[in-house]
Amino acid sequence: MLDAKVAALLNDQINKELYSAYLYLDMSNYYNEEGLEGFQNWYYVQAQEERDHAMLFMQYLQNNGEKVTLEAIAKPDKVFTDHRMPLAEGLAHEKYVSSLIHTIYDAAYSVKDYRTMQFLDWFVKEQGEEENTADTLLKKYDLYGADARALYMLDNELAARTYTAPTLTL
Ligand code: FEO
Repeated sequence: MLDAKVAALLNDQINKELYSAYLYLDMSNYYNEEGLEGFQNWYYVQAQEERDHAMLFMQYLQNNGEKVTLEAIAKPDKVFTDHRMPLAEGLAHEKYVSSLIHTIYDAAYSVKDYRTMQFLDWFVKEQGEEENTADTLLKKYDLYGADARALYMLDNELAARTYTAPTLTL
């Protein structure tokens, strides 16, 4: 059994990760409507990764004998008015998710829950990578997005992203 606060935060993170998947699906749909199929693909793959993150938190709770409670997933409520907006929102969202992971880590640390800290290590690293990737994408868009040919090439680049299962297994 885990500390009650740690377990509650881990359970809540299932919902946060599923919301992340929902948010990225919304972005993927936006780019579909805009005819940018590479951007659409990139966020579709991102949504799959977020679903995987949710599953990992769920499995970790199950492996530790904790009850899992699934709550309602909030509706993504952003209205995207230009092609840059989802990229900026994505970066801000990943920074927010990093803060959530750090809060769980703090809670685990305070009760000497080394097992949960080790589990979260993968997510700490993953969040660093996700923030970096989102930041790079935004910078590329700011450099090239205003030029139609460059945007076409960037869209092609993003079309090449493929889904791979997470490296963390439980
Ligand atoms: Fe699962 Fe992008 O945080």
